[in-house]
Amino acid sequence: MLNDNFYYSFSGEAQNEIYDYIKALHVYNKVEDAKILEDDDCPTFKREVEEVRNELENGKRLVIVKPFIDLHNKYTIQEQRTISWLLGNVLGETLIQNEAGERAILVYDRDRNNSMLKGARYHQTREGGTIHTDNVNVPYKWEYLVLACIAPAMAGGENILVNALIVHKILKEKHPDVLAILEKNFFWEQRGVADATYEAPIIIYNKKGEPEFRHLRPYMESAHLKLDRPLTDEQMYALDTLDAILEHSDNQYRHSFSAGEILLTHDAQVLHGRTCFSDYYNAVTIHEYKKDHHHPMKRTMDRLWAKKR
Ligand SMILES: [Fe+2]
Repeated sequence: MLNDNFYYSFSGEAQNEIYDYIKALHVYNKVEDAKILEDDDCPTFKREVEEVRNELENGKRLVIVKPFIDLHNKYTIQEQRTISWLLGNVLGETLIQNEAGERAILVYDRDRNNSMLKGARYHQTREGGTIHTDNVNVPYKWEYLVLACIAPAMAGGENILVNALIVHKILKEKHPDVLAILEKNFFWEQRGVADATYEAPIIIYNKKGEPEFRHLRPYMESAHLKLDRPLTDEQMYALDTLDAILEHSDNQYRHSFSAGEILLTHDAQVLHGRTCFSDYYNAVTIHEYKKDHHHPMKRTMDRLWAKKR
């Protein structure tokens, strides 16, 4: 059930179905090895996921799933990740996100010295970043971002969410010259997936005539540099205007995730970002934490991308 804001709670019945399903699974090493729901598995849960999908496609375009009841007592960390894995796989086919072939990626700061300016991927740094969509490093379109919070940061790491339909309305009404530029092709890097580039506009329109965005400025700027096709003054002007609109607090919804919450967005219609964060001085990675619970875990999010079947 969705409340007035963006929060969705699965019913007790749906949660019980998932609990029984997960506890009956055979031992699996990687979360991606957990058997996804089939045919008659968890019918109430699946029905409720369809409510979420409807909200993502026709309603608010973003949903924040509240943590399952008694999450920390009932589930191991691996099982918490499995909830998100099962949910993503009901929404669609989960996609490979890196050269290692992983479909469920852990987002955490690998090293305080990592920086996107030095070529690192966003999900491996502590940096706040430009507001973006995730569907930027492959030319084809997928629909859903599933981002589950396993542990929040000690400080910061607030998530920023921006409705693309509102941004488009502002562009159309106040900056039609900018909109026209954003509807033309830019170059994009396939960072982390392939050593290649492709061309696509920032704004396209779907079958319903609604705008859909593709935007992550650093990956685009580096593609233009790599190809020795610098962004034109006109393109820079359009990008600066778009980023200024995205950064305006009137257009943002901000949320600090707590453990167990799962963000779902229709990626092309909700841009997102985060503020920079800092982990505890003695924080450990999720892998170390699984072996020894004595130190706090670094801010850790579990990310899936799902393409509608
Ligand atoms: Fe992202």
